[in-house]
Amino acid sequence: MNVKTGGLEGIVVGNTAISTVGKEGVGLTYRGYDIHDLASHAAFEEVAYLLIYGNLPTGAQLQAYRDKLVQLRRLPDAVKLLLETIPGTAHPMEVLRTSVSMIGALEAGHASTEQDIADRLIACTPGMLLYWYQFHRHTTRLDESEASENSVAGYFLELLHGKKPDDEHKRAVDVSLILYAEHELNASTFAARVTASTQADFYSAVVSAIGTLRGDLHGGANEEAMRLISQFKTPEQAEKGVRERLAAKTKIMGFGHRVYKISDPRSDIIKAWSEKLSRQAADGYLFEVSRRIEKILWDEKKLFPNLDFYSATAYHFCGIPTSLFTPIFVISRLSGWSAHILEQRINNRLIRPEAHYDGPAPRPFPPLADRR
Ligand code: COA
Repeated sequence: MNVKTGGLEGIVVGNTAISTVGKEGVGLTYRGYDIHDLASHAAFEEVAYLLIYGNLPTGAQLQAYRDKLVQLRRLPDAVKLLLETIPGTAHPMEVLRTSVSMIGALEAGHASTEQDIADRLIACTPGMLLYWYQFHRHTTRLDESEASENSVAGYFLELLHGKKPDDEHKRAVDVSLILYAEHELNASTFAARVTASTQADFYSAVVSAIGTLRGDLHGGANEEAMRLISQFKTPEQAEKGVRERLAAKTKIMGFGHRVYKISDPRSDIIKAWSEKLSRQAADGYLFEVSRRIEKILWDEKKLFPNLDFYSATAYHFCGIPTSLFTPIFVISRLSGWSAHILEQRINNRLIRPEAHYDGPAPRPFPPLADRR
C-alpha cells in the first residue's frame, strides 16, 4: 500500500449523534434540526444548549441557561494579569489559546460536571479576548460585570464597542454563532476528540482545538478572505486581481470544502446578512466586490463560497476588526467541541491510527566517528 494523499478523506472513524454534514453533497443538521430552521428561529444560547445537553431547552431552561452564562462571565484577577502580560502584538488566537489554558490551571476540579466547564468557557471567552484587546489598544481595563447584554453576541459587541449594540448587528453575530457552532469531524473537533481520547482533561482538549482552528485552511480562512476582499474598491478590480491569483495557482480563502460538493448550506444564510448589513455600511461596496469574486471562482473553478467567505464582510460591516474573526469562531465552536468531548467520554477508546512507512530500509547503526 502507498498512501499518496493523506488527509483521511472519506474515512469514517466513528459514530456521532451530534450533527450531519453534507449528506449527498449538501445539508447540515445539529441533533436532527436543519441549520436553516436553527438560523431562522433559534438564538445561539438555544443551539449551545442543544449541542451540550442533547435537547432544545424549554422557555424556563433557556432563561436559566442565559442567567447561568451571565454569572459565569467573571474573569479571575490572575487571568486579567496574564492578559495584560501577553503582548498587544500577539494574535488574538494566541490570547485565547493561552487564557483558556490558564483558566484550566486555575479552575481544574472546580466544576461539578464537564458540561459546567463547557458553559464556563463559552461565558468567559468573550471577556478574555476583549479584556486583552481593550487593554492593549486603548489602555482600558474592562469591567466585564458592567455589561448589560445577556446574550453572547450582544455581550461580545458591547465589550468591543463600549456601548449597547445595534439590534441588526447583534442578530447577525448571533446567527453567525449558530452557523459556526458545530460541523462534525472538522480538523479542530477531531483534534479535541483525539486529545479527549487519551483521557486528558477538558481544557487540554479545547486548547488542542483552538490551536488547530487557527490555520488558514480552517478557521483562519475568514480573516484571509477579508484581507483579500478589502484590497479591492470595485468588482472590476476584484475580477482582475482574483484572475491573476488563480493564474498563479494561489488558493482563494473562503472557497471550497472537503465534504460539501455542491454548496455550503451556511453560505447563503450569512451572505443574506452581509448584503443586508452592507446597505448601512460606509464601505458597503465590499459586498458587490465579494459577489464578483464568488462569480469568478464559480465560472473558473466551479468552487463555491464556504461559511468563511461572506462571514468576513458580515463581521466587517458590524465594525469587528479582522483579527477577531477567528476568535469569534472559537467562542461559537466551543459548543460543538464540548459536545464532541462529552460524546468521546462515552465508550472512549484511544484514537491511534497507523501510518504507511516509506522511509529507509533497516540499516546498521554507524559509530559517531564513521558518520559523514
Ligand atoms: N481556491 C483555489 N483553488 C482551490 C481552492 C480554493 N479555495 N480550494 C480547492 N482548490 C483547488 C485546489 O488547488 C486543487 O486543485 P488541483 O487539483 O488542480 O491541485 C483542488 O481544488 C482540490 O483542492 P484540495 O485543497 O486538495 O482539496 P481539499 O479537500 O484538501 O481542501 C479545503 C478543502 C477547504 C482545505 C480547500 O478547499 C481550501 O484550501 N480552501 C480554502 C481555505 C478555506 O476556505 N478553508 C475553510 C474551510 S470551511
